[in-house]
Amino acid sequence: MLLRLFICVVVVLSSASAAVIPLSTDIKPPYTHPWDSSLRPATDFLSLTSGIAADNTTGDEPSQIHLTIAGPNAISVNWASDKAKTGKGYLQPNDPFSTSSIVTYGLSAADLNMTATGTAQVYSQIYNTSYAYWGGNSTLNYTSPVLHTVVLPELIPDTKYYYKVGDGATFGETLSFQSLKAAGPNYPQRLLLIADWGLSHNSSSTLDHILKSAQQATSPPCVLYIADFSYADTWYPNGSVSAPNTAAEGSPNAGSYQPVWDAWQRFVQPLVGQVPMVGGTGNHEEEQEADGTMFKSVQARWPTPYRASGSPSYFFYSVDVGPSHNIFLSNYIDYTEDSQQWLWLKGDLARIDRTLTPWVTVSFHNPWYTTDTSYKEFEQMRIAMEPLVYAAGVDSFFYGHVHAYERSTPVFKYTVDPCGPVHITIGDGGNSEGISFLDNYQHPKLQFEDRNGGCPMVNASQPRPSYLLPLNPSQDPWSWYQRTLTFQADGNSTGVGNPPGYCYKEQPAWSAYRESSFGHGTLDLVNDTHALWSWHANQDSNAVARDQVYIVRNTHACPNKLGSLATAPARAPAGSSISQLMNAASSGG
Ligand SMILES: *[C@@H]1O[C@H](CO)[C@@H](O)[C@H](O)[C@H]1NC(C)=O
Ligand SMILES: *[C@@H]1O[C@H](CO)[C@@H](O)[C@H](O)[C@H]1NC(C)=O
Ligand SMILES: *[C@@H]1O[C@H](CO)[C@@H](O)[C@H](O)[C@H]1NC(C)=O
Ligand SMILES: *[C@@H]1O[C@H](CO)[C@@H](O)[C@H](O)[C@H]1NC(C)=O
Ligand SMILES: *[C@@H]1O[C@H](CO)[C@@H](O)[C@H](O)[C@H]1NC(C)=O
Ligand SMILES: *[C@@H]1O[C@H](CO)[C@@H](O)[C@H](O)[C@H]1NC(C)=O
Ligand SMILES: *[C@@H]1O[C@H](CO)[C@@H](O)[C@H](O)[C@H]1NC(C)=O
Ligand SMILES: *[C@@H]1O[C@H](CO)[C@@H](O)[C@H](O)[C@H]1NC(C)=O
Ligand SMILES: *[C@@H]1O[C@H](CO)[C@@H](O)[C@H](O)[C@H]1NC(C)=O
Ligand SMILES: *[C@@H]1O[C@H](CO)[C@@H](O)[C@H](O)[C@H]1NC(C)=O
Ligand SMILES: [Fe+2]
Repeated sequence: MLLRLFICVVVVLSSASAAVIPLSTDIKPPYTHPWDSSLRPATDFLSLTSGIAADNTTGDEPSQIHLTIAGPNAISVNWASDKAKTGKGYLQPNDPFSTSSIVTYGLSAADLNMTATGTAQVYSQIYNTSYAYWGGNSTLNYTSPVLHTVVLPELIPDTKYYYKVGDGATFGETLSFQSLKAAGPNYPQRLLLIADWGLSHNSSSTLDHILKSAQQATSPPCVLYIADFSYADTWYPNGSVSAPNTAAEGSPNAGSYQPVWDAWQRFVQPLVGQVPMVGGTGNHEEEQEADGTMFKSVQARWPTPYRASGSPSYFFYSVDVGPSHNIFLSNYIDYTEDSQQWLWLKGDLARIDRTLTPWVTVSFHNPWYTTDTSYKEFEQMRIAMEPLVYAAGVDSFFYGHVHAYERSTPVFKYTVDPCGPVHITIGDGGNSEGISFLDNYQHPKLQFEDRNGGCPMVNASQPRPSYLLPLNPSQDPWSWYQRTLTFQADGNSTGVGNPPGYCYKEQPAWSAYRESSFGHGTLDLVNDTHALWSWHANQDSNAVARDQVYIVRNTHACPNKLGSLATAPARAPAGSSISQLMNAASSGG
């Protein structure tokens, strides 16, 4: 009797709360959640040598285990063995050919009756002692552990697998994961969203919360990671931490201290050793070296399944997870009309079978829609690609970069449009640079564009300076030639609901909710028409969603959501390497 009464109360409560969850198309006045002044906006790095990020290995046993998607029904298992080396002068790299890359796996922990083998690699970061900013004669070189990758092919969908990794002689502990659902309208499906995670005490709080969201999933979850991983580049190459070090980001001045990557990979293993994670690349992955090379570590540590989605480049690809088709793009590769990235996007959108994957997400690091000072940082990318994604009826965009949370209404060309995608910035993972978006924070750069003089002076002839500019154009010609042009001054604000100005005097109509807190998101795909988006702040229990909305697909009102307006590209992107892409950008630039 008592039990029945209890169940009754629970049902009434949950249906009452379900009834108040708004739809993304219910347009309300823009909302800014006030800053909680009991929180500290600054963050601190975790220790690299003790606690959750420490290297507890004593020999060559595996560590840094992480899973990513390798293609349809295929998971790639990645890990490190042998120690990284950090020091002055030439460092003899570990020999990736002196070891084997083996995963034994199976449906029972007691019977790992299948074996897959893979490949191993190492990378080195070479620094120049003549460069005073890096620490002069205190600068250290780095060469990585052996980094292993093994693909487990043809997995049975939605099935628990046990696995362990090693070299044939030494294996790590047995771990497990749930294989993903096959592409198809297999509801429910939970996606976990996180970005700009880093390695601070606040990152650790985010890990605790996202682990709960993974455990509470009623489907095998998958993490979509919207870049800025370890923040190794907020350290000097000599091992001194200097956070926030934003002045030097993305420039050769930034340097990096690669042991932070190794620590970060150990830190995230509790999540990504059991839940596959796919991601993009951000400004903190540039990590320019003495010879100008960029994006080296992230490529060695986090393979992307780009070949499986017909992409010519590591930096853009798509994966199907149950009823969702998830596209990752790059802000740092040519995105103009008829570029390889643009053509691949157009073709990929046209190839989506909406009867299999009705839901389409697009993710990349720097937002098209944000009211932070990164407003219009990639305006030319938006201008080039937004018509394509609107025609194809993309449902939602996910971004990082801004260390706060913001959700837009459905929007197209800065105008509220029920058939446009919802844009969500989730760069609030907790990294060492601290929080963005604050009205009264001491850092003048970190505030709303429309508040307290955040709007830059109107000056149409002056391109907006971007701190992402690399100083070596031969290594990143695209950025060098194009990035300063991405901001276009286009007149003054005319206020809420009106066409865009240079920036806004008040929170624009398309900015539905924004808040400066750390946290993560969950996207629960419920059926063909409803996906429940929830944003969880670190200061709450996971049961609380500070911002929650059903993202809706109304194919009657919005025929673009059928994908029928997406058209195949005139020509398929030719297969070519990233250096060829960059050279092409250079010669065209
Ligand atoms: C970050 O974590 C620290 C230590 O737990 C805490 O004092 C601070 O309030 C947190 N900041 C935010 C914005 O959550
Ligand atoms: C290393 O050991 C410490 C102390 O036992 C533990 O707290 C920490 O979680 C371990 N770290 C890793 C990455 O396993
Ligand atoms: C790093 O190694 C290179 C050679 O591989 C050497 O030229 C350079 O001086 C070294 N840098 C430091 C900081 O020791
Ligand atoms: C491995 O064991 C499972 C049962 O745990 C069985 O279904 C499968 O056929 C076996 N596979 C091989 C390759 O022996
Ligand atoms: C190191 O930097 C100095 C000063 O910029 C430069 O002259 C020298 O060629 C660089 N050395 C290497 C190996 O890149
Ligand atoms: C590392 O380099 C930075 C930047 O030059 C410098 O301020 C710091 O003192 C150096 N740290 C050590 C331990 O030498
Ligand atoms: C490093 O440089 C400083 C001054 O730039 C000098 O005083 C010191 O002796 C040098 N240390 C070494 C080990 O060369
Ligand atoms: C606008 O920018 C141009 C080019 O940088 C500069 O010469 C000019 O002084 C600026 N005008 C104002 C009003 O800031
Ligand atoms: C923008 O605002 C400035 C200062 O209020 C004004 O001088 C200028 O004429 C305005 N420009 C446009 C295009 O409205
Ligand atoms: C889809 O899910 C939503 C939210 O739970 C629900 O209101 C709606 O009735 C569902 N549609 C169908 C066709 O079941
Ligand atoms: Fe970023």
